[in-house]
This record gives sequence, C-alpha cells and structure tokens, in this order.
Amino acid sequence: MRDVAGKTAFVTGGASGIGLAMARSFAAAGMKVVIADIEQAALDAVQTEFEASNAEFLTCQVDVTDRDGMEAAAEATESRFGKVHVVCNNAGVAVGGRIDEMTYDDWDWVLDVNINGVVNGIRTFVERLKTHGEGGHFVNTASMAGHVSIPGLSVYTASKFAVVGISETMRADLMPHNIGVSVLCPGMVDTNILDAGRNRPRRFIHGARPWEESLPAEERDSFNDNIRASMIDPALVGEMVLHAIRTDEFYIFTHPNIEPMTQLRGNEIADAFARWRDYCEARDI
Ligand SMILES: NC(=O)c1ccc[n+]([C@@H]2O[C@H](COP(=O)([O-])OP(=O)(O)OC[C@H]3O[C@@H](n4cnc5c(N)ncnc54)[C@H](O)[C@@H]3O)[C@@H](O)[C@H]2O)c1
Repeated sequence: MRDVAGKTAFVTGGASGIGLAMARSFAAAGMKVVIADIEQAALDAVQTEFEASNAEFLTCQVDVTDRDGMEAAAEATESRFGKVHVVCNNAGVAVGGRIDEMTYDDWDWVLDVNINGVVNGIRTFVERLKTHGEGGHFVNTASMAGHVSIPGLSVYTASKFAVVGISETMRADLMPHNIGVSVLCPGMVDTNILDAGRNRPRRFIHGARPWEESLPAEERDSFNDNIRASMIDPALVGEMVLHAIRTDEFYIFTHPNIEPMTQLRGNEIADAFARWRDYCEARDI
C-alpha cells in the first residue's frame, strides 16, 4: 500500500511502546489513526499528545480479547473515519519463568491476549477490508520469540510462534484481495513490556508475580543488563512498520544480529531430517 496518506489505521496496544510508535509514524505520514488499548490512563496521555498535533485520530478503550468490544471499536472507527485500511494487531503481554512454574492463569492470560487478540482483530476487520475493495494491510506483532525459543519464556514463545504461523497463512489467503500482511518480529525494544502484569485481569491473577521475580536473584542482573544492552527505540520500529506497509514487506526484523539464532534452529531441523532420511534408507522404508 504505497499511498498511505488519508488512509485509516487501527492499532491495538496503541497507547504504549511499539503500538504508540506505529501510531506516531502513521500520523506523521498523513494517516488517520485509531489508538485502541485496554489502559485508559495511557489513552488519556495519548489523547493529550495527539490533540497538540495536526493528527486526525481517535482513542478507544477496548480489550482485544473482548469480541463485542472489538466490534464496537470497529463501528466507532467507521462512523468517524469511514473505512479502515490498516489493522495492527499489536497488543501483547508476557510472563517470564520456567515451564514448570507456569500456572494455568499464566497460560490463559497470555494466550488469550497474544493469540486470541490477533484472531479477534482479524475476524473483526477482514471482511471490512475485503468489502471496501481499496486494498489494505494487516500487521501482526509477533517477536523474535516467534522464530527462536527463549528459555524462561515458554508461554510467550508459544503465543508468538502462533502469530507467525497465522501471519504466514493469511498472507497467501488475502493476497487475491489486495490485502497485504506483515509480521513484526522485534528483538528487545525499550517499552513497558516488562511491566505487562499491570494489565493482567483479576480473573488471571493466580500465580502472578513481577517479571523481576521470575528469575533467580543471581541471574537477574545479567539478564537485565543483557536486555538493556540490546534495546532499541520504539520510534525506529514504528518507522520500520510504516516502510513495510508501503513496500509490502512480510517479515519485519529489527535486530539483524539475532539472525544466526534462526539459522541454528534451521540447521538443527536440517540435521534431524538427514538423520531420519538415513534411518529410513537403512530400513528400506
Ligand atoms: N518490547 C519488546 O522488546 C518486544 C519484543 C518483541 C515483541 N514485542 C511485542 O510488541 C507488542 C507491543 O508490546 P510493547 O513492547 O510495546 O509493550 P507495552 O507494554 O509498552 O505496550 C503494550 C500495549 O498493549 C496494551 N494491552 C495489553 N493487554 C491488552 C488487551 N487485552 N487489550 C488491549 N490492549 C492491551 C497495553 O496497555 C499497552 O499499551 C506486544 O505484542 C509484544 O509482545 C515487544
């Protein structure tokens, strides 16, 4: 979608971090933006910021796991701006800790937001984008954790592999409708993700603990140092997403230095195929 000016973008998790950076980049490119988020206080701050600019925008409190709420947000968007062209399924949360420490509440909360939130964004908007026929673009926010498994992040990793899989499939499905798809796969970005528990609903509270406590004390400092050393500014990610929409790029990788990790996984898979090929040949299977 090379020509984005005047088009409308709907961004979930838009009141903080990467989503807010996307909204800022889109607005600077002349797009109308709908900033959807669960957190009213953050939306209020965004409202003040955007009111001070020339941007055409709407803030909208919605929980991406609430299907009726997402439908109401889509209707509010259409009544304000007419059509929606770009949908960024970006809202996401994380819990840290080893697999044996993960509670059902950890699994249910993270999978609900990170997978069902994306599913709900697709279901809410896909027919709308097809129907107006002007073309469009979905951006699903996954992570590098959608390509390489990160110890201590099992639940998050599961959710992000799912987002990559959904995105790869929908790219082919939506191509005939002139709807592009990108999957955003960042490494560490300087946002509020490590404080994701602030939006954890009470019904999923069992076992909830601050991120910091998910690691043994002796690992915490080096973990935090490593994370901080590789963090990039979300503004850069917002620009990358805008570029990917304009040029119809599918994968958006923010940390080229992580590429070898994906190759390690590919190599291990290739080695496993080779071993089993030998096994089958030896047994004439
Ligand atoms: N920050 C990173 O290093 C990083 C790396 C890879 C992927 N990501 C992904 O980027 C996306 C954005 O995260 P971020 O890093 O900007 O974090 P963030 O916490 O700064 O922003 C996430 C936003 O999502 C909102 N949100 C949470 N639950 C919601 C719900 N149920 N409904 C609607 N909104 C909800 C939050 O209120 C917040 O505004 C997430 O999908 C995250 O998994 C982040």
